[in-house]
Amino acid sequence: MAADTARVLVWDWTVRVFHWLIVLLIPLMWWTAEEGMMDWHRRMGVTLLGLVIFRLTWGFLGSWTARFIPMLKRISSLPAYVLDLRQGKHQPVFGHGPLGVLSVFALLASLCIQISTGLFSVDVDGLESGPLSVLVSFDTGREFADIHELNFNILSTFITLHVAAILVYQFVLKDNITGPMITGRRPKSDFSVTEQEDNKPPLWAIILGITFAAVSVYAVLNAT
Ligand code: HEM
Ligand code: HEM
Repeated sequence: MAADTARVLVWDWTVRVFHWLIVLLIPLMWWTAEEGMMDWHRRMGVTLLGLVIFRLTWGFLGSWTARFIPMLKRISSLPAYVLDLRQGKHQPVFGHGPLGVLSVFALLASLCIQISTGLFSVDVDGLESGPLSVLVSFDTGREFADIHELNFNILSTFITLHVAAILVYQFVLKDNITGPMITGRRPKSDFSVTEQEDNKPPLWAIILGITFAAVSVYAVLNAT
């Protein structure tokens, strides 16, 4: 029991559900596009749209480790953090470390571009299209599809770097950061500073975030 109370909540359940759902859905998005299963590509794409809108809202309403302002403030400690790493010193930080923050912003930005361009994309013969493509001309829809294709390579590069970094933490720095992304918790003694003792988000914020995401997806699907 004592050990249990000494474990702090690093990632609230919504961040973890968001994370593992995108890990599941992104490879499926690639696969459905490759196999021409565009109905599924669109359905899962709209699900991803809802997930990302929720995560962006959560960056303002959510638990401390999910919020963007504290994350941005972390970037100032990047030079010291990298210097420590180069000297083989590593101290886990509560929430995203400064390198983690850069990776989160890169992943979320490329994910937003991938999803928003998909909404307006049209394929070469005009047979397959995103739900908002009727709002733009065929040529513009094709330009969105080109960016959609190009950005997929950028997103894949960021994912590869992200997974490579996780492996470095696991095997070089001997820090299992994946465990907390599954269970949410980590021993408090791992951190020199724990900025937020109670990182549990209030229920009203969860309800507001989910409602906002659902209403946004509904608005997109009914915009035409
Ligand atoms: C499609 C592949 C993946 C994508 C798009 C992705 C995306 C992300 C994003 C957006 C975050 C930020 C979480 C947040 O604040 O909401 C994150 C964090 C994280 N991801 Fe992934 N991820 C992927 C695969 C993986 C895999 C395979 C693992 C582990 C085996 C993993 C482990 C983690 C961990 C541990 C964090 C927290 C990092 C930190 O401490 O700063 N991810 N990921
Ligand atoms: C993370 C999210 C997504 C990923 C990883 C993804 C991935 C891909 C890939 C790899 C292709 C094939 C590109 C090519 O070689 O031409 C594609 C095509 C397409 N995607 Fe997505 N997509 C995503 C989101 C979406 C969304 C949200 C929509 C719309 C609801 C969408 C609609 C389309 C359409 C209409 C095409 C056909 C474009 C063409 O053939 O040129 N995608 N997507």
